Amino acid sequence: MAFQKEETQSEPPMEEYTPAPLEERRNLLTVTDVERTFHVAGKPLHVLKGIQMDIKERQLVMLKGRSGSGKTTLLNCLGGLDTPSKGEILFDGLKFHQMSDNERTLIRRKHMGFIFQAFALMPLLSAWENVELTLRMAGVPRSLWKERVAHCLELVGLEKRMHHRPFELSGGEQQRVAIAKAIAHKPKLLLADEPTAELDSGMGAQIMAVFHNIIRTEQVTICMTTHDLTILEVADHVYEMVDGKFI
Ligand SMILES: Nc1ncnc2c1ncn2[C@@H]1O[C@H](COP(=O)(O)OP(=O)(O)OP(=O)(O)O)[C@@H](O)[C@H]1O
Ligand SMILES: [Mg+2]
Repeated sequence: MAFQKEETQSEPPMEEYTPAPLEERRNLLTVTDVERTFHVAGKPLHVLKGIQMDIKERQLVMLKGRSGSGKTTLLNCLGGLDTPSKGEILFDGLKFHQMSDNERTLIRRKHMGFIFQAFALMPLLSAWENVELTLRMAGVPRSLWKERVAHCLELVGLEKRMHHRPFELSGGEQQRVAIAKAIAHKPKLLLADEPTAELDSGMGAQIMAVFHNIIRTEQVTICMTTHDLTILEVADHVYEMVDGKFI
């Protein structure tokens, strides 16, 4: 399992790391002609109107756009939480849009991380146990949990709050636990809906540094939404959504 192999390798020093040129990297996600139509009160509501998108491995891609333009709807489709009404989504070469719910759930648990409001923390579990839960669900061997949970909570600056439960944490701290929980199992793809919205600018910058760090050291690919202009600056690519399409 990739998780175990990587665990024993030491991280390359910063100056020796040269990322592969973008054109040599594989597509992790290929989105073709994706549409999503909801039916509300008997009427169709076309929310995604033909989305084309390629996300290469180890890219940091951001989506921006006005409220209601369809960003969350698209992230839900990319993560298999929702299925497009039309079009195709390939995840790591797999036809994600054609899989059963069970197949998608297994892929999600092992290879994807989510920072979505709907995927908030388990209220009765401590920060530590919340992060551990991801490892359990992904089938990571128990012997690796302790080191990994501690590492992830340190990455988000929560080493002093590891045993607090969500109601004993501030909003920003809860958001940081959610980030640690989302990256614990070294997902191939991290999908994040406004991951820095609850954080002040210093902490937002720290989270972006964490994201860059895990892209480099763990080969994660990230697709996130944000309204924050300073955060958009650090993206490899920004897609702007207007009324269900990219412009
Ligand atoms: N399950 C649903 N059923 C019906 N309509 C929906 C559903 N989900 C989303 N919509 C509609 O689709 C549109 C896009 O919603 P979405 O949540 O994707 O926007 P968004 O770009 O993420 O906005 P925000 O920046 O406010 O989060 C909205 O008008 C919303 O009302
Ligand atoms: Mg949204």
